[in-house]
Amino acid sequence: MNKKKQNLLSLYVHWPYCESKCPYCDFNSHVNEAINVNDWIKSYKSQLLAMKEELIEIDINFKNLNTLFFGGGTPSLMPLKVIEFIIDISSEIFGFKRDIEITLEANPNSYDRKKFNQFKQLGINRISVGAQSLNNKYLNFLGRLHNIKDVKIALTDASEIFDNISVDLMYAFNGQKIDDWISELENFLNTYSLQHLSLYQLTIEEGTRFFKDHKNGKIKLIEDDTAAKFYDISNKVLNNHKFIKYEVSNYAKKGYKCKHNLNYWNSENWIGIGPGAYGRLWSYGENKSRIEYQNYKNPKTWLFKNLKQPEFEKITKLNSKVSDIDTLTMGLRLYDGIKISKINNLSIINFKSLKELQNKKIISFKDDTLKVNEKHMIKLNSILNYLINP
Ligand SMILES: C[S@@+](CC[C@H](N)C(=O)[O-])C[C@H]1O[C@@H](n2cnc3c(N)ncnc32)[C@H](O)[C@@H]1O
Ligand code: SF4
Repeated sequence: MNKKKQNLLSLYVHWPYCESKCPYCDFNSHVNEAINVNDWIKSYKSQLLAMKEELIEIDINFKNLNTLFFGGGTPSLMPLKVIEFIIDISSEIFGFKRDIEITLEANPNSYDRKKFNQFKQLGINRISVGAQSLNNKYLNFLGRLHNIKDVKIALTDASEIFDNISVDLMYAFNGQKIDDWISELENFLNTYSLQHLSLYQLTIEEGTRFFKDHKNGKIKLIEDDTAAKFYDISNKVLNNHKFIKYEVSNYAKKGYKCKHNLNYWNSENWIGIGPGAYGRLWSYGENKSRIEYQNYKNPKTWLFKNLKQPEFEKITKLNSKVSDIDTLTMGLRLYDGIKISKINNLSIINFKSLKELQNKKIISFKDDTLKVNEKHMIKLNSILNYLINP
């Protein structure tokens, strides 16, 4: 690939603490504990400086960060001093593009209005609110600490302060009625002026409490056909409200796609700092290859390992097949699909399967672009299994 084209660089900052652990969540999140702010600043700093050296070493052609994302965990619990430090030093080290997108994830129960104002003053220009459900019954089921009233307050505050608001919602629970969900969603979209929505159907992740409950039969998932009906009808409602689906679970008004996540899905370059965060950079030696930087997952281990000098748990040069499969898997999540020329070696694709999927109108392959047709996006994982050579 042309070296000049791979010039986007993002920064992901992981904050691993939450007020409580949700029973469905397998993100690297831990219940809040007392921390030493200065130590956290030192460890983040040592990682940023190490990545600066790395970028010079592998000679990436980039100019200024185009996105910065505070994710978690619950970054709205981050001490302001830490956020401020990271924004300042990363601007100094990497530079910021004029239109940089700086997102922070906020939980409705872990912020206050004053904090939103302070985030804005620090340069955060996009807030992602974890509302999760529009119904107290399901908020309770999900073990959330907030209720609908808290969502209302958080979104009212957010709309007065930010111009770019995203909301995370989960839906299609066992027992949920489609008509109820649709009227809740309609009512929600009529009440708030949002720019972006992420809509997820519950997945059962190993190691979570829901995983055990599911195994014991205490929690059931809805049938695949019902899940597909929920998906289709939600797409229609969102379209009517001028939200365009641009990824399997993500919808944006015109001009408000999440630039940070697009960098992941387009397999660009990103740095990941903080416990469990990982980064990926393209290296242009004789052969182009991708390098992955994996951080220690445990917050205390990460903190102490990085305090004096930076230390990643693992730095791996991804082999070409792994890297190609990742590029394809991420790219096909996008509604616009993937430019097939991004794949270095097309032998990862089973062309017999591709032809078959094309004949069944499940995927389309025109010019250089391979894409999953909208109706079938919900089945992306099984499509990929069929498409990729073992
Ligand atoms: C890093 S988490 C969220 C950040 C924030 N702490 C919160 O909970 O609002 C990103 C999103 O993934 C979704 N999510 C997490 N676990 C999930 C699961 N098991 N199934 C479906 N969606 C899930 C939730 O909507 C969540 O907001
Ligand atoms: S608040 Fe968010 S990150 Fe924390 S446990 Fe719940 S879903 Fe996971």
